[in-house]
Amino acid sequence: MKQIMFIALLAASAAAAAATPQQLMQTYTELAARQAPGYQPSARRGAELYSRRFAVSDKMPACTACHTDSPVQPGQHAVTGKAIKPLAPRAEAARFSDPAKTEKWFRRNCTEVLGRECSAAEKADFVQFLAEGL
Ligand code: HEC
Repeated sequence: MKQIMFIALLAASAAAAAATPQQLMQTYTELAARQAPGYQPSARRGAELYSRRFAVSDKMPACTACHTDSPVQPGQHAVTGKAIKPLAPRAEAARFSDPAKTEKWFRRNCTEVLGRECSAAEKADFVQFLAEGL
């Protein structure tokens, strides 16, 4: 519950002044460090999350099912066929600039692909990978 409120606060305050991927990553890192002191985000773990096949859902076995094998490439929704812009901020500048949007899609996509929400640590790793690559 505390975590949800923290994110809600971040979303409310950052909505007026757009956030950067680094600010989002820092917030997720602070949340993760409360659960695991000393936690540091890892682009390598983020890359593993990006390409790992969870196979909870047949149509959406992995993040790559819609976002392709490379986060700098445009994607396509595996079910609707709708075009999706690249996830990496270096390919699509608007990425991770709106915390409410980021949270909404993390919640939806992690639930579909992993069968549960992603942890703050997983989100920090994922944003680190997308922002900085490997
Ligand atoms: C069924 C297709 C699909 C799958 C699978 C999928 N996504 Fe997405 N994702 C989308 C769509 C659609 C959007 C929203 C459209 C957009 O932002 O271009 C999106 C947007 C996002 C965003 C928002 C980025 C921002 O701009 O702030 C994040 C974060 C994200 N996805 C993470 C993930 C993660 C993590 C996984 C794997 C666990 C995943 N996605 C798997 C379809 C998918």
